[in-house]
Amino acid sequence: MNTTNHYETLDPNDWDEMRTLAHRIVDDAITYLETIRERPVWQPVPDYVTARFDEQAPHEPAGPEAAYQEFLETIFPYPMGNIHPRFWAWYMGNGTVLGALADFLASIMNPNLGGGNHVANLVEGQVVNWMKEMLDFPRDSSGLLVSGGSMANFVGIAVARNAKAGFNVRENGMQEAPQQLTVYASIEVHSCNQKAVELLVLGSKNLRKIPVNADFTINLQALEETISADREAGYRPICIIGSAGTINTGAIDDLNALADLCQRKISGSM
Ligand SMILES: Cc1ncc(COP(=O)(O)O)c(C=O)c1O
Repeated sequence: MNTTNHYETLDPNDWDEMRTLAHRIVDDAITYLETIRERPVWQPVPDYVTARFDEQAPHEPAGPEAAYQEFLETIFPYPMGNIHPRFWAWYMGNGTVLGALADFLASIMNPNLGGGNHVANLVEGQVVNWMKEMLDFPRDSSGLLVSGGSMANFVGIAVARNAKAGFNVRENGMQEAPQQLTVYASIEVHSCNQKAVELLVLGSKNLRKIPVNADFTINLQALEETISADREAGYRPICIIGSAGTINTGAIDDLNALADLCQRKISGSM
């Protein structure tokens, strides 16, 4: 049915045309994944394509067909490469086809997770509960789905800071910190953690980068010595960041040993 005369709506002009295009997009996407091994991992973006992204914003709508055509020509052929089986640059890999389709459905529902009686909140709670089960966390521990690794680490360090600072950071702010708070991680830790300590007003100099062993895991002895020296110098150690798959080599720190060290060496709750 053609419903062209909508007054201010985000609906497509023609649902049937949109349905046809949507089917084509799904077909193209599945073929893209199915045939990925037949293409190079990566190819440089040609200058004429780069130039397309430097054009001024369009003042008239191009329409869905033209927009998709442009995607096919200037975007789809030039991926980062991380979804290719022969991508060795960093550890990050691919999602699943069903995961991608689930993203599509999530966009269709476009929920706001801020509250209310709707099922997306239950889905979030379910996923968090499943994660707790897998990680042997107590059932009454809390959790949150966030946008990715950077936000996860940011939130984690915020929790550590607020719980271990020894004063009410949320109410009084870092201006009232009686001691400098310190955070520990190996030199292989992802750079988002440094950004997080900066954003949380802890100061990047207070993120202590600890040397690694030959297998690129954190050196526990160096870590313990650094924490002891900091304590003696009047700092307040509040957090150890363990890497469960470093960005360069996928090394996994001895997380159990780090947990034991935290019990012994990290400041108590406020
Ligand atoms: C170990 C590690 N932590 C954090 C991040 C940041 O994750 P995101 O890009 O999802 O913010 C990455 C990204 O690749 C990572 O490898």
